[in-house]
Amino acid sequence: MAIEQPVLLTDRLILRPYTPDDAPELAERLNNPKIYSTTLALPYPYEEHHAVEWISTHQASLERGTAVHFAVTLKTDRTIIGTVSLMSINEMHRRAEIGYWIGPDHWNQGYATEAGQAVLDYGFRRLNLHRIQAQHFKRNPSSGRVIQKLGMQKEGFSRHAAYRAGRWHDLINYAILETDPRP
Ligand SMILES: CC(C)(COP(=O)(O)OP(=O)(O)OC[C@H]1O[C@@H](n2cnc3c(N)ncnc32)[C@H](O)[C@@H]1OP(=O)(O)O)[C@@H](O)C(=O)NCCC(=O)NCCS
Repeated sequence: MAIEQPVLLTDRLILRPYTPDDAPELAERLNNPKIYSTTLALPYPYEEHHAVEWISTHQASLERGTAVHFAVTLKTDRTIIGTVSLMSINEMHRRAEIGYWIGPDHWNQGYATEAGQAVLDYGFRRLNLHRIQAQHFKRNPSSGRVIQKLGMQKEGFSRHAAYRAGRWHDLINYAILETDPRP
């Protein structure tokens, strides 16, 4: 029987699995250099076929227990405003990495933090993870602030760990344990 991904509710958001029908809307949001330039894996330009291919991998990743991706949608009108994912899930070590983006029209309204909190809860309570880690580009203080608001602790600094938009970037590393205090 197929494993079903839950829907997570927060005050203002519904975090739900992506469906193939979401591809055009997702591609429209992600075809944006402001998102591309501070993320590690997204292509640019981001075209509809990228969204179709990516969404088509989700059920297999869920079943293998390696990744879970949530569409971040507004309760008010169901618009997709972003994504929060748990990736590199490792059952043996009970750890994963959280990654996220929010479309620029919705920045600085607390959405990444609100969605991130729900996904941390899901990771610790439902997936029984012990540790969730995160990385952000040094030149992306907004993401650093989200990570801090999630209660993650700074663990280190990786020099030139990413090549993006024609240059090397330093990454800052954070993590939170299931036993750490949560804001
Ligand atoms: C990083 C990102 C997810 C933040 O999303 P968001 O919904 O705006 O995040 P929040 O509103 O929850 O929090 C943003 C925080 O950053 C702060 N911030 C914004 N710009 C800032 C800057 N230049 N310097 C320092 N802090 C900044 C905001 O004031 C806010 O903090 P506050 O609540 O203490 O005031 C969003 O900018 C994004 O998707 N960027 C492109 C993709 C990306 O970088 N993803 C993360 C990869 S690690």
